[in-house]
Amino acid sequence: MKVITTIREMQKTIREIKLQQKSVGFVPTMGFLHDGHIRLMENARENNDVLVLSIFVNPLQFGPNEDFDAYPRDFERDSEIALSKGVDYIFYPSVEEMYPKEMSVKALVQQRTNVLCGESRPGHFDGVATVLTKLFHIISPDRVYFGLKDAQQVAVVEGLITDFNFPIELIPVDTVREEDGLAKSSRNVNLSPEERLEAPVLYESLLYAKRLVEEGERNTDLILSDMKKLIEEKSSGSIDYIEIFSFPELEPLPVIEGKIIIALAVNFKKARLIDNIIISI
Ligand code: PAF
Repeated sequence: MKVITTIREMQKTIREIKLQQKSVGFVPTMGFLHDGHIRLMENARENNDVLVLSIFVNPLQFGPNEDFDAYPRDFERDSEIALSKGVDYIFYPSVEEMYPKEMSVKALVQQRTNVLCGESRPGHFDGVATVLTKLFHIISPDRVYFGLKDAQQVAVVEGLITDFNFPIELIPVDTVREEDGLAKSSRNVNLSPEERLEAPVLYESLLYAKRLVEEGERNTDLILSDMKKLIEEKSSGSIDYIEIFSFPELEPLPVIEGKIIIALAVNFKKARLIDNIIISI
């Protein structure tokens, strides 16, 4: 495994790989790798000749109230994990390498952002789309891997790849879950023991909604109100949102049809948990 810190060397390396007609799988991250990233690396390792992992904490996607400096970083631990998962190259540029001066052109995400978590993070997905545009040009992957835990990011990346004609296959990877169904998250440790016992109701409510849809229910309001009742009955968390949208367009659907996402965010005392499920009818 090789660590590359400059754009020039990364591009040169990729040119040589492409000359050998090898496929490139790419897992973009901000580091501090967890089980979700590991699942992405495992998937990418299985289906590509070469596996590139990027670790770059992207200042452009942090809002004024979000602390870029406080974002957790542990390159040594990350590189040990990457090595054990068969990563060939870690692209690990500095902020100065990626943004040597203020950019004269940036990406503007016009749809799929003003809902779900994006609603409270204005500009966040512009920063994500801008850095991914750069990374896609630098790494020229055949396939790029993203976790469905952040389904809104998957939707935005789908738009970016389609609208800008990147010749890249987007591979969304299922959320990694605890045995009781709770989506794995670094925030789960902030749940109290009682809240930890309650938290699986989030996924339970998503499965319940899925069952209702499979049994023929098409009324969005009815499904959402049943889910709300279930979560309120079985947990002390307060619901931030529960929504049903088309996927990946993220548009409201009074009547369920096609591919949909049911997504929720629930605030516990010290942890805000999100989860979702995607269903095709
Ligand atoms: O999901 C993340 O870690 C980041 O948003 C990404 C895709 C690496 C872009 O900085």
